[in-house]
Amino acid sequence: MQWKTRVTELLGCEYPIIQGAFGGFGTSAIAAPVSAAGGFGIITAGALRTPERLRQDIAKARSMTDKPFGVNLSIGICPHIDEMREVAIEERVPVIFTAAYRADDHGKRVQQAGLKWVHKVATIKHALAAERQRADAVVIVGLEGAGFKNITQLPTLITITTAVRLLRIPVIAAGGIGDARGFLAALGMGAEGIYMGTSFMATKECPISDRYKQALVAAQPWDPEYRDRALAPPRPEEYQRVMRERESLPLGQWLMNLERVLLKETPDTPIDWESDYQEWDPEVALRISGGSLAVGVIDKVVTAKELIDSIIGEAEKILSSGGCIS
Ligand SMILES: Cc1cc2nc3c(=O)[nH]c(=O)nc-3n(C[C@H](O)[C@H](O)[C@H](O)COP(=O)(O)O)c2cc1C
Repeated sequence: MQWKTRVTELLGCEYPIIQGAFGGFGTSAIAAPVSAAGGFGIITAGALRTPERLRQDIAKARSMTDKPFGVNLSIGICPHIDEMREVAIEERVPVIFTAAYRADDHGKRVQQAGLKWVHKVATIKHALAAERQRADAVVIVGLEGAGFKNITQLPTLITITTAVRLLRIPVIAAGGIGDARGFLAALGMGAEGIYMGTSFMATKECPISDRYKQALVAAQPWDPEYRDRALAPPRPEEYQRVMRERESLPLGQWLMNLERVLLKETPDTPIDWESDYQEWDPEVALRISGGSLAVGVIDKVVTAKELIDSIIGEAEKILSSGGCIS
């Protein structure tokens, strides 16, 4: 079966399955195997810390696969972001993904250089803004997903079904997706690809401690500690306080404070975006697992290829049986 959508055309991959960005560890170690397996891997520039190391990691990914992969620029958290962007352009990485905040200047520069620009957002309003700014596609992360939250974010199902009515550019669905049914559901909602973070963390190649991967397997999304982190609204007084700080703090610091409030963390909880997750800490495991309700469909640690093959194989089985297989 062919899995051709505008997203596979844009990215030049076989399957519309994209690996999410990871601030502390999103290197070629995970991006290359995902691309080699027919998905689309992303190197997170911030995980490499310097433009020189990003360049080396792009070269390393190219030594591991001849398939295309992308680079993520997370605004507010990626150091040396302009230089990182220029490295990705010089290296002719075909698609640059931006995330987190206003990205139109980066997008414009990327497109002027002849490359494609995909922006990641958490709300339909921001997806519409990205379309106005001429993004080639947009990733929209529903409330079930890990990553930067937004006070007006909605669950993945209603976000995607509404977004595809309003947008003309391709929509890529994210937030709580990790198996064939989630993949088919996203395509059924009108998305032209899926974008998975947490599910790719539970793969053998992901360069984090195995204990965190086992914690993802063990976590249950209905456990209030996980569920509330993703779904409960923030405390109103804390939200108002952090919004008042917007003009007085550097963007990166403010985004981290906002994230802490939206994830209902205490003021002294360290934010883990830039951690490489090598040192085991049960508190951290709780926060990683609770970031995304995709833990509900993560039941073992497999290779990136096994994960992609199982999603595609099972999706084909479901479709060939008329969609009712149990
Ligand atoms: C540990 C961790 C680190 C992340 N770091 C980043 C980041 O630096 N930049 C970014 O754009 N998204 C980041 N994300 C978000 C993912 O790229 C993706 O949008 C999210 O995981 C999708 O939801 P899912 O986990 O339910 O699949 C991170 C997610 C996790 C779990």
